[in-house]
Amino acid sequence: MSAPRKLHIKSYGCQMNVYDAQRMVDTLAPEGFVETDNVSEADLVILNTCHIREKASEKVYSELGRLRTAKDDAARNGRQMTIAVAGCVAQAEGREIVRRAPVVDVVVGPQSYHHLPQLLRDAKNNGRAIETEFPAEDKFNFLPPPQPQSIKARGISAFVTVQEGCDKFCTFCVVPYTRGAEVSRPVARIADDVQRLVDNGVREITLIGQNVNAFHGEGPDGKSWPLGRLLTHLAAMSGVLRLRYSTSHPNDVDDSLIEAHRDLPALMPFVHLPVQSGSDRILAAMNRKHTAGDYNRVIDCFRKVRQDIAFSSDFIVGFPGETEADFTATLALVAQIGYAGAYSFKYSPRPGTPAADHTEMVPTAAMDERLARLQNLIDSQQLDFNTSAIGTTVDVLFERDARHPGQIVGRTAYLQPVHVFASPDIIGSVLPVHVESLERYSLLGSLAAPASIVSPRAGFDTRAPVVTGA
Ligand code: SAH
Ligand code: SF4
Ligand code: F3S
Repeated sequence: MSAPRKLHIKSYGCQMNVYDAQRMVDTLAPEGFVETDNVSEADLVILNTCHIREKASEKVYSELGRLRTAKDDAARNGRQMTIAVAGCVAQAEGREIVRRAPVVDVVVGPQSYHHLPQLLRDAKNNGRAIETEFPAEDKFNFLPPPQPQSIKARGISAFVTVQEGCDKFCTFCVVPYTRGAEVSRPVARIADDVQRLVDNGVREITLIGQNVNAFHGEGPDGKSWPLGRLLTHLAAMSGVLRLRYSTSHPNDVDDSLIEAHRDLPALMPFVHLPVQSGSDRILAAMNRKHTAGDYNRVIDCFRKVRQDIAFSSDFIVGFPGETEADFTATLALVAQIGYAGAYSFKYSPRPGTPAADHTEMVPTAAMDERLARLQNLIDSQQLDFNTSAIGTTVDVLFERDARHPGQIVGRTAYLQPVHVFASPDIIGSVLPVHVESLERYSLLGSLAAPASIVSPRAGFDTRAPVVTGA
């Protein structure tokens, strides 16, 4: 048997790319590839790229510059290094990538990862292979399910794609062009993935999609199921301790999702619900198809059924034509909602999107200043939110050994890291922790329950009784 070939894969951008990277690893395993962290020893390097903002996109080219040196070094040692560009830049730029960076051997768009083995063979035979079509078939039917080896390497929290693509066409966004139209996976396939993950020690599942609550996959009854129903189905599976989903759109929040938050203890009361702006004028120009008032009403629906629910969001500052009054409306919305955290970005014009044609650009200095003000407000809300945990007892899902010897780190329902001194046996369990202090973004505390009642370490007995803080 020939020696295994080494694969190094680097992902940028969203959770979808993280999940896809794993699928690529699993697709290439039967071809004899094993993963390596070390680029210089790789036979195949895949850059799994993001096109969302110019900065993300340009990162790829500086990385390709570095890879050219690594490829030359490998060649000097008589080794061939193949370089592939995957992800949304591959989809958006296709052949242009090879023109700018001739070091690239394979360009593969997100809909074609199941063709990777063939593309590598084509590149070997013909010198290069490029595939960025949206194939008619659903790639999920061809990609292998998560494999034990790659699941175990990644710990107790995992992503599962349930939906891909977007039909919303916000005027600033490349996603509908790079990921294509919305497609949902059938419930049975998703449940099968979740079962495999749980059987291999995973305890927390985050369902992902560019527009995850637009999910409408086929259920076992042949009908189309909304996300809330899918969550209810998965929550009933033994070993699933925590469920999350991301990223949702305010316009697709339906009764099934609100009911799931009311009824499912496993569904974490923490929702990432991007709003982008607090100005109705800007929201209309962004083609968001909701107002700030609509967004507030959606938030209220969640809050009515789960008083302890918290929210995070995404914001864009400096969208073309954004005035100081528009920006003030964003600050007002943030002040009214009160977030546990949020991401904020300066508007970046993206080729091919309608907003890129606007000429009314906000000057860079104004964008910088607005971003700083927004981030200050968000940071102070995040600090208040984290500080409010001190002195309380919270449920923590323990994930891994921390850097400090003897310390174990886990996360609260709100994804706050929590450090305790305890035995590694608690990894994979949800246990109550008394929070004593906050150090930067991390909570420090001690176990509130006797450690003797914890369930076994994740990855062994997946049917073990689970001790929650309830
Ligand atoms: N599907 C998700 C998020 C997609 S991209 C949603 O609908 O919200 C993640 C975030 O990147 C967006 O929420 C937006 O805040 C930001 N973003 C997208 N395009 C951008 C652009 N052209 N410039 C700046 N930020 C952008
Ligand atoms: Fe982009 Fe809008 Fe679709 Fe989100 S909903 S992926 S921001 S087009
Ligand atoms: Fe980036 Fe594509 Fe995700 S553009 S954010 S990697 S869908």
